Amino acid sequence: MKILVLNGPNLNLLGTREPDKYGSDTLNSIEKFLYREAKNLNVEIAFEQSNIEGELVTKIQQAKGVYDGIIINPAAYTHTSIAIRDAILAVELPVVEIHISNIHKREEFRHISMTAPVCIGQITGFGKNSYKLGLIALYDYLIQYNV
Ligand code: DQA
Repeated sequence: MKILVLNGPNLNLLGTREPDKYGSDTLNSIEKFLYREAKNLNVEIAFEQSNIEGELVTKIQQAKGVYDGIIINPAAYTHTSIAIRDAILAVELPVVEIHISNIHKREEFRHISMTAPVCIGQITGFGKNSYKLGLIALYDYLIQYNV
């Protein structure tokens, strides 16, 4: 089983970026943490980040035929990106949306997700464990539907 983990804008700054909201782990340490979890499940993961909306769209498009599913933290694009939503629809791969912070506890503009309605589900507010929970959710889904 192969899973793509996609990270959107400003997540490369984790560690120093608003640690009260996002914790003190860097994206690199979250990547290592997730690799260990994936190894336990015997899942192969690729972990990527981009600050550019079009690059995220291209990575989603290119996932078709290569990966069995996608875990995505679209970051601020969650709330704005019809292009990422359309790319998820287009590739017809199961996608789990995750967030480090609980977007529903924050400013009103973060309560809306353009992408969640085209995902299997959304996991939000568990810090770096949102990545782990997203991985388990997608893994179980893929096993259940025999993908
Ligand atoms: C985020 C939440 C978004 O609202 C925000 O723009 C981010 C990070 C999260 O993981 O909590 O950049 O996706």
